Amino acid sequence: MMTPAPLDGARILVTGATGQVAFPLIQSLSPRSTVYALARFAKTRDRQRVEAAGAIPVAADLAGDDLSAIPQDVDYVVHMAVVKSGDFGYDLKANAEGVGRLMSHCRKARAFVHFSSTAVYAYTGQQLHAEDAPLGDNHRAMFPTYSLSKIAAESVVRFAAREFGLPTTIARLSVPYGNNGGWPWFHWQMMKAGMPIDVHPERPNTYNPIHEDDIIDKVPYLLSAATVPATTLNFGGEPVSIEEWCAYIGELTGLAAAYRDNPQAFGSLQIDPAAMHAAIGKTRVDWKEGIRRMIAHMEQQSTHS
Ligand SMILES: NC(=O)c1ccc[n+]([C@@H]2O[C@H](COP(=O)([O-])OP(=O)(O)OC[C@H]3O[C@@H](n4cnc5c(N)ncnc54)[C@H](OP(=O)(O)O)[C@@H]3O)[C@@H](O)[C@H]2O)c1
Repeated sequence: MMTPAPLDGARILVTGATGQVAFPLIQSLSPRSTVYALARFAKTRDRQRVEAAGAIPVAADLAGDDLSAIPQDVDYVVHMAVVKSGDFGYDLKANAEGVGRLMSHCRKARAFVHFSSTAVYAYTGQQLHAEDAPLGDNHRAMFPTYSLSKIAAESVVRFAAREFGLPTTIARLSVPYGNNGGWPWFHWQMMKAGMPIDVHPERPNTYNPIHEDDIIDKVPYLLSAATVPATTLNFGGEPVSIEEWCAYIGELTGLAAAYRDNPQAFGSLQIDPAAMHAAIGKTRVDWKEGIRRMIAHMEQQSTHS
């Protein structure tokens, strides 16, 4: 396993900084690094949240032409911005062309991590997906532009890593969750509302949920794993199915999950973690502990609001 990139005192650009995955990261990095937090900042509240976290807001639209607000002399880039508006033109421009222009702009950085998704893999039932598994339009049913623009973005990233000699890791994230939300949180909300949860009929529907603390812990390792040409790694925790995490949410809350078989649902998307474990090590947060903490945190927040 690698040694982590030295982030203390470093200048780090985090894109998608107001999002589910990046926000806890900027909160964790800001006390010890200079964090530039990029988003469009459509909502004023987001700018305040980012400033309160100790990061420096950088407003830019990655689908736009003007990236001049983005500092070029950063040490590291963690690229988490994503848009899934459903408009292919805009989403490909922001997600695929956008990352290319960002890498061109920040080509002097020591390392670049591009957050991709296991949504780039074709559905193949219960099989494990290694990094060379077939790709496909996995998330079409719910997010029409998502898988294709994540696949397109990866190709642009590989090109740019070589073109600019910029050491790069592509991290194919499974299911991020934690105190800032995530798919298990959505399922909990659906259980509260008595809404059926669509699952693929080929059960169980297994993924590799990864807690926000593990994402924060692993970012320095993902940066140190960066190479030219780019390294591609799956990025997830231990395998857990939707059925298992909903049953556990039920145990904690007394709610029951109602399932609806839907062959269009994403279906199992389990990673082969071998390359990830060899390069950056295993995750640490036990999934039940992570879900317990998520529920306790959200319940505490709702009693204070
Ligand atoms: N969440 C998941 O379940 C999941 C699973 C697998 C992989 N991932 C990957 O993990 C990364 C983070 O996902 P997330 O769920 O945290 O995303 P998110 O919550 O949807 O947040 C997206 C972020 O990107 C920014 N953004 C959107 N369009 C932009 C544009 N045109 N220019 C600049 N910034 C833009 C948004 O802020 P503004 O709207 O203010 O611009 C926001 O900060 C993404 O790469 C995603 O594909 C996520």
